[in-house]
Formats: sequence, structure tokens, C-alpha cells
Amino acid sequence: MNILQDPLLRWRNEFPILEHTTYMISHSLGPMPRRAQTALQEFTNIWATRGIRAWEEGWWDMPITCGDLIGSIIGAPRGRVAMHQNVSICQSIVTSCFQWNGPRNKIVTDGLNFPSNDYIYHALARQGADICSVASSDGMTIPLESILDAIDDRTQLVSISHVAFRSSFVQDLAAITKRAHEVGAYIIADLYQSAGIIPVDVTALGVDFATGGSVKWLLGGPGAGYLYVRPDLDPTLQPAATGWAAHAHLRVQQRPHHLLERHAPLPQRHTKCSVHVLRAFRLRNRQ
Ligand SMILES: Cc1ncc(COP(=O)(O)O)c(C=O)c1O
Repeated sequence: MNILQDPLLRWRNEFPILEHTTYMISHSLGPMPRRAQTALQEFTNIWATRGIRAWEEGWWDMPITCGDLIGSIIGAPRGRVAMHQNVSICQSIVTSCFQWNGPRNKIVTDGLNFPSNDYIYHALARQGADICSVASSDGMTIPLESILDAIDDRTQLVSISHVAFRSSFVQDLAAITKRAHEVGAYIIADLYQSAGIIPVDVTALGVDFATGGSVKWLLGGPGAGYLYVRPDLDPTLQPAATGWAAHAHLRVQQRPHHLLERHAPLPQRHTKCSVHVLRAFRLRNRQ
């Protein structure tokens, strides 16, 4: 096909910056879609005209309704993706589900993982976690065997960046997930550099958790992260990083012990604070 006849080219008009720039850095910050401006205007209009009614008229549910849009890109069933501030928060929520001072205290992280994820794991060393970072000898790739060999019956969590942010190296998530589950470990995949640019199917892969965000290939601008939680995951997993919006029957006057008794089902249980409406608006308008 002649590249000038590519039907995708019509989308270029949707990105104002392309009128005067050759934009080669979507892996860092995707270009702003024209519709983002309309979405932000819609947000302020609703705030101005509906005031507090806006919560009941869609804002409150936006972490999940917006998460469903992401779910349609990453192969997650409805209601399994919740929006948060960023990947760091999502990763912290997941790691706070586990005890790190027992015999199963090992975290295997790939040596090309995003630094923020590794900072979170290394901070867990204070709670007893044993961090095993599988090194990349060339700074670009990691042999699959090295990762598989590091996953053993002391491993509680395996963390893999699906596509390495520094080299675009694609990890074999299916093989790593299989190995993690064979030894009884959980796996969290960071999809930030894969979702929206290569096919991703969290259901087919069987990963337990996945994180990512709006900033890059999803073209939603800064400030929104998402967390996928596998539907059939152990319902007893309770994040210590939580908040009032995690309650199944939300009331401002709830006391902490009520939260422990009545968590909402996963992953809403992980929606820990007031919702991120402004960010969700930008992303939602990406449809
Ligand atoms: C693979 C990956 N994970 C995470 C992040 C960002 O993490 P956060 O959303 O916590 O800023 C980036 C880029 O900024 C990334 O490339």
C-alpha cells in the first residue's frame, strides 16, 4: 500500500502539534488530541452548572467507567480496571496486599523495569522483602531464561515491564506468568510502554495485576494511572494502602474498622480516595 493512502493518516488532523512538528516522543508524552480541549471544557461546564450533583451524575463512577475503556484496549473484562493517579500509586497498592517478613518474601523484578517500580520494591526491604533484580548485561535486553531461573518457591511477586522504557525490548509475559504461577507467585505487569502500541491481552496472559497510565501511547495527557486486577484473584487480598472510597457502602462517617469489614470487591477495593475526574475526562474523550 502506498503510505500516503494509509487510512490512519486522517487521524493526523486530530493532533494540532503535528501541523508544525514531527512528533517522535510519544513514549514519553503523547501529543494532545484536539478533543482533549473539548473534554476539559465539558468538565468545567459540568462543574459550573451541576455543582455537587455531578458526583451522582457520573463523576463518582468514572474511575471504573473510564477503566472500562482501558480494559477494552488491554483485554480486561468490565469492572476490572480502576483509575488512579499514577503507576507508582498502583504498584504501592498491590505490594501493600502482601506480608514481606515471612519465608515467601522475594520480589523478582526485571533489570529494565521502570525506576519508580524498583524504588517501591527496594523500600519494602525495610519490611523484610528480598529484592532480586535480574540484570541486563547489554542494557537493552534480558534473556528469558535469566528471569525464569530467578523465580523460585520463595518468590511472592514477579514484576515485569512488558516493554522496556529504555530499549523497547518486549518481555515474554506469557512464559514468565506461567513460571510465576507454577511456583505459587503473583505477577504484576507494567503495560505503560505496550498498551496502545502493541496488542495486549491481560486475560489471555493470565497476569494477576497490571498497571499503566495515560501519558504515553494512550494519549490522555499527564496524571492518570490504571490498575487491573485479575477477576478470580484471592478475595482475601487486602491492600494496606487504602482509603475511604474503598468501602463497599460509602459513607463519610464510616470508621476505620468498618472499612476492614466491608471492602468493595476488587478492583474497586483499590479505589482508595476521591476520584480523578479531570484526568478521566481527558482519557474518556479518546474514544
Ligand atoms: C514503564 C513505565 N512505568 C511507569 C512510568 C511512570 O510511572 P508513574 O505513573 O508513577 O509516573 C513510566 C514513564 O513515565 C514508564 O515508562
